[in-house]
Amino acid sequence: MNLKEFEPKIVAFCCHYCAYAAADLAGSMRLQYPANIRIIRTPCTGRLEIEYFLKALENGADGVIVAGCEEGSCHFKEGNLAARRRVNYTGELLAESGLEKERVRMVNVSAANARRLVDAINEMVENVRRLGPNPLKEKTPMKQEICP
Ligand code: FES
Repeated sequence: MNLKEFEPKIVAFCCHYCAYAAADLAGSMRLQYPANIRIIRTPCTGRLEIEYFLKALENGADGVIVAGCEEGSCHFKEGNLAARRRVNYTGELLAESGLEKERVRMVNVSAANARRLVDAINEMVENVRRLGPNPLKEKTPMKQEICP
């Protein structure tokens, strides 16, 4: 694949209460973010297991962004703190496996802060574009259809 043509596919796990609401608000405010993002709504980022991040990468995503409430504002008390620990641990696992830990990151946003979410998404897309395609998906071509 020509790297100039490479358009990263990013899976964004967004908590229902803040990040997903911020994404919705971004749409209302006509803030644009790249079409490379596939948003998956979750009740709380604390519900997300490391396995989900790894599966997304294995199934064809080039990067994963986890967007939850601001610290101290999680509607399930400390779900976002657990999510941050899991995201950090996933990054360590990726690094141990020879992948870049920057392929997974966490961002905390309030429901009213659409701009912050959009900036984080744009930054993620640019970072992953620099990293290039996820080498895992070349090894598992049969699963690419999950993340078209
Ligand atoms: Fe948003 Fe927990 S409800 S991160």
